[in-house]
Amino acid sequence: MEQQHAFAHAMLQWYRENGRSLPWRETQDAYAIWLSEVILQQTRIQQGLDYWLRFMHRFPTVDDLAAADEDEVLRLWQGLGYYSRARNLHAAAKQIVALGHFPDTLEDIKRLKGVGDYTAAAIGSIAFGLPVAVVDGNVYRVLSRYFGISVPINSTEGKKVFAALAQELLPAGQAAAYNQALMDFGAIQCTPQSPRCLLCPVGELCDALHTGRVEALPVKLKTVKVTERQMSYVYLRCQGQTCIRRRGKGDIWQGLWEPPTAEVVQAAGLPLGKQLRKQVKHVLTHRVLYADFYLLEVDLQPRLPAEYKWIDESDIEQYALPRLIEILFESIDG
Ligand code: ADE
Repeated sequence: MEQQHAFAHAMLQWYRENGRSLPWRETQDAYAIWLSEVILQQTRIQQGLDYWLRFMHRFPTVDDLAAADEDEVLRLWQGLGYYSRARNLHAAAKQIVALGHFPDTLEDIKRLKGVGDYTAAAIGSIAFGLPVAVVDGNVYRVLSRYFGISVPINSTEGKKVFAALAQELLPAGQAAAYNQALMDFGAIQCTPQSPRCLLCPVGELCDALHTGRVEALPVKLKTVKVTERQMSYVYLRCQGQTCIRRRGKGDIWQGLWEPPTAEVVQAAGLPLGKQLRKQVKHVLTHRVLYADFYLLEVDLQPRLPAEYKWIDESDIEQYALPRLIEILFESIDG
C-alpha cells in the first residue's frame, strides 16, 4: 500500500513539473476534450495538435460539427487516416446534439460512436473527474516496470491485472491529473526504448530497475500472424506411375513429399488437366492454405525438374505425405 501511495504521489508531482502543456488541458469543455481523445487514438501528440486546432477553429462547438457536411469533416481529417474515426466523430456529434448535452457518465459516454473503454475512461476522467483509470500502452509499460509485473499485457489475465491495479492506484479526486500524468510519464520518461532511469523520480522503488528488467518489461505475447496461402497441385499419371518430390528445408512440410504444383506443370508445357478439387481449406498453426487439385493423364513422361521422382502409384503409401496432400489424393479414383 505504501509503495502504491508513493507511486501516485510521485506521478502527480512529476506531472506538475513536467506535464506537456496542451490546449485541451486548459479547458473544461467536454467537446474539446472528446475531440482531442478521438484524434489521439492513433496519432502522435504533435500531429494531433495541428488537427485539433483546425477542427476547433472550423467547428468551435459540437453543434457546428454536427451540422457540417460529412465531406467537409472528412476533408479536414485528411492525412490522419482511419477515416471511420472521422465518420464516427461526425455521427457522435449528432448523437450529442440529439441528447441535448454531452454525456457525463461512463456508460453514456461509451454509447458515443467510436468511443471504446479506453477513450471513455479518458473523457470521463478528464472532462468530468469520474474516478476511472485509463490504461493505454504507456500505462501498461509504466506499471509493469515499476511493480515488476511480467504477466503479458495483451493476455486476458494481463488486461485484468493491470486494469485492477491501475484502478486501485487512482488517487481520490485526482483522476484527470493522475491519468494524464501516467500517459505523459510513459511518453516522456519511461519510454519503450532508452527510458531515462538515471533521472527517474521513482527509480528507487522501481522493481524493474532493481532487478535489471527494464528492457524486458512489459512482456507482450507475440500474436501469431496467420497468413493465407493459395496452392495448386497436379497429380500426374503416366503408365501407372505418378511423380512427387521431397520438400526441403524452411517453409512448411520439411522432408515430406508432394506432387508438382501447377506452376511446375505449366512450365513443362503441359495443361493442368481435370480439376478434382477447388479451394480445399486446410488450417495449420500459422497458415491457412487453400488448395486446388488437378489430375492430368499423359502417355509420355514429361521433363520435370530433377528433384521430381516417378514412382508406382501403388507405392504412394510408402511416402510421407502432408495431411493436405493425402486429402487431395483421396479424390483420385483408381
Ligand atoms: N494520449 C491520448 N490522450 C492523451 C492525453 N490526454 N494525454 C496524453 N497523451 C494522450
